[in-house]
Amino acid sequence: MLVIPPVYKKYISTLHGRVLLLGGADTGKTTFARLLYISWYKKQSFPCAFLDLDPGQTKLGLPGFHWGLINHGWKNERVARMLGSFSPRGYEQLSLENLKHLTHWLKKQEAEDIVLDTCGYIRDTGMAYKIHVAEIFAPRYTVIFSMSKNNDEEKLLNTLIKNGIGGEIIAFPPQAFVTPRTREKRIRYRNRQISLFAKRGHSFSMVVKLDQCEIVSNGHVQPLKKFLCDSASSELKNKLGALKKADGTHIPCVVTNSVLFEDGYQVEFHIITEKHLTPPAEEGIIIAKDLNVETSSATNHPEAGRVQP
Ligand SMILES: Nc1ncnc2c1ncn2[C@@H]1O[C@H](COP(=O)(O)OP(=O)(O)OP(=O)(O)O)[C@@H](O)[C@H]1O
Ligand SMILES: [Mg+2]
Repeated sequence: MLVIPPVYKKYISTLHGRVLLLGGADTGKTTFARLLYISWYKKQSFPCAFLDLDPGQTKLGLPGFHWGLINHGWKNERVARMLGSFSPRGYEQLSLENLKHLTHWLKKQEAEDIVLDTCGYIRDTGMAYKIHVAEIFAPRYTVIFSMSKNNDEEKLLNTLIKNGIGGEIIAFPPQAFVTPRTREKRIRYRNRQISLFAKRGHSFSMVVKLDQCEIVSNGHVQPLKKFLCDSASSELKNKLGALKKADGTHIPCVVTNSVLFEDGYQVEFHIITEKHLTPPAEEGIIIAKDLNVETSSATNHPEAGRVQP
């Protein structure tokens, strides 16, 4: 059951402008992001926007992408940028490029209230990555989830303060109601999202040269050739892939079938085009879909603190 403690209520009713959410995996970032976005929507504070920088567990569409959603009151618009991986680890540069593009796109649309939801990658190289995210996004507020002494979140907070990045920083203590999800549960969610988009896609068959296609497997892009050396071709089904065009750019696709031939693989793809990436407008506030906000109850939980730079 969804819990909205007083500390959430307080910040949900006051945060506005650019809001960056940071913290480790399963600390409650996405749930809070959705609640904040819904509150802007309900207050009719348009245009309001949701930036989704978690390619593995995205709430806005096809995994392997970074997403931006803007609501103008009378219409929703969504834009996606491909990452080709379910994690930014090893793809930090491309992730930051995507963030720049999406932020720029929202700025052009005059979105002021923007919540940026991020993935839980904050350890080791993830720390520097998140600092760059904060630099690019230049938030008015940064909310750090699950802050306690000597954890990664505290290191992140100290680095932000030391470098004068992140605007006003708010630290939430760990919340008991936040429950970790197993790796299997995450993979199930991702596969469900991928097959949903595969159904929408436009299907066609072609023989691909093995060096023309890359496949996303275990969260990383690898050449199709390598993937086929390591795994059975049946495992190709429902994998997120990318066809390399002659100019070096990629066309995202989902593999739906594959048959081995002498000189290559006959692979059936569902090509994901702009059209298929943009779901129909009537989906409304899609990120509110499985959040039962009205019936949730408030309980007492530790207070959050504003951190003085
Ligand atoms: N306010 C809440 N009330 C009840 N359950 C919650 C609440 N916030 C989070 N949870 C539960 O805790 C789990 C993790 O929450 P959430 O997905 O928001 O975390 P996250 O920090 O975004 O995780 P990740 O880093 O994996 O994206 C989910 O299963 C979610 O349902
Ligand atoms: Mg999340």
